[in-house]
Amino acid sequence: MADAQDFQDRMLSLGLARVSEAAALASARLVGRGDEKAADQAAVNAMRDQLNLLDIAGVVVIGEGERDEAPMLFIGEEVGTGKGPAVDIALDPLEGTTLTAKDMPNALTVIAMAPRGTLLHAPDVYMEKLAIGPGYAVGTVTLDMSPAERVRALAKAKGCAAADISVCILERPRHEAMIEEVRSTGASIRLITDGDVAGVIHCAEAEITGIDMYMGSGGAPEGVLAASALKCMGGQIYGKLLFRNDDEKSRARKAGITDLNRIYTRDEMVTADVIFAATGVTSGSILSGIRREPGWMTTETLLMRSKTGSVRRMTYRSPVK
Ligand code: FBP
Repeated sequence: MADAQDFQDRMLSLGLARVSEAAALASARLVGRGDEKAADQAAVNAMRDQLNLLDIAGVVVIGEGERDEAPMLFIGEEVGTGKGPAVDIALDPLEGTTLTAKDMPNALTVIAMAPRGTLLHAPDVYMEKLAIGPGYAVGTVTLDMSPAERVRALAKAKGCAAADISVCILERPRHEAMIEEVRSTGASIRLITDGDVAGVIHCAEAEITGIDMYMGSGGAPEGVLAASALKCMGGQIYGKLLFRNDDEKSRARKAGITDLNRIYTRDEMVTADVIFAATGVTSGSILSGIRREPGWMTTETLLMRSKTGSVRRMTYRSPVK
């Protein structure tokens, strides 16, 4: 087995795209069928089968949950043939299970891979997140700023009025005050019902998506996936774990986290080069969803490497057997 230094990101990236495509194709027949669990399970099964074909000694560090609550792709599960480089895997076989079940925009299958020991082992708790796209100085916006300060600081850096800034936020009661404060600056808000990995990725392509900044709390595992994407595309993300009780704190300690108040930068969540793949399940502003036609299905996949900053969008036409 090769060590972490031999991470063959170039060779492995196409394999990673296949993994994410397979998960999307498996969930295709469940789009719009109202069954979140079945859609998720189909994606999990397919993702795991494809992952196990790759020549890697992989360990799932961000997965479907702890071993006792997830039969497959649980945290700590070893994946791959065991013959290749030692890698960490972060995955969400279906990011946006409800979006899929209701056929709403921006459901994705998502996976990231990096040398062993280089992805933050984020426990399944909430994370306060703040993200902007590439081209801004580090610290242009910070988690310490109020939501209104962040809008004004970004507008200043972008050279526009606060009213020209668009912010993406998950629509949740816990975000009501934040939404009100952002609106008080004149900025616009795109509210999303789910899917904050896609929400963060929107910032990296602001000219296409119209979104400049993402803020608010969501899953911590999704935060590491989003950081992986921004490490490839450029952009900044900050994340702070949020704990609702002692059980969540002990989950974090079990994952090796000692400073529970730490604010993580993108490069502290993902400390080495990473490869990232996401396939559209339902259509949205970053990827087309699965297209079903008689005899075949077509997917679109975003495949990226941080080492080179390469961002590919690949379509795949798969015969339906
Ligand atoms: P699922 O795919 O597991 O349904 O998660 C979707 C999601 O919207 C994430 O993108 C986000 O981080 C999280 O749920 C937010 O959690 P909550 O729904 O508890 O606010």
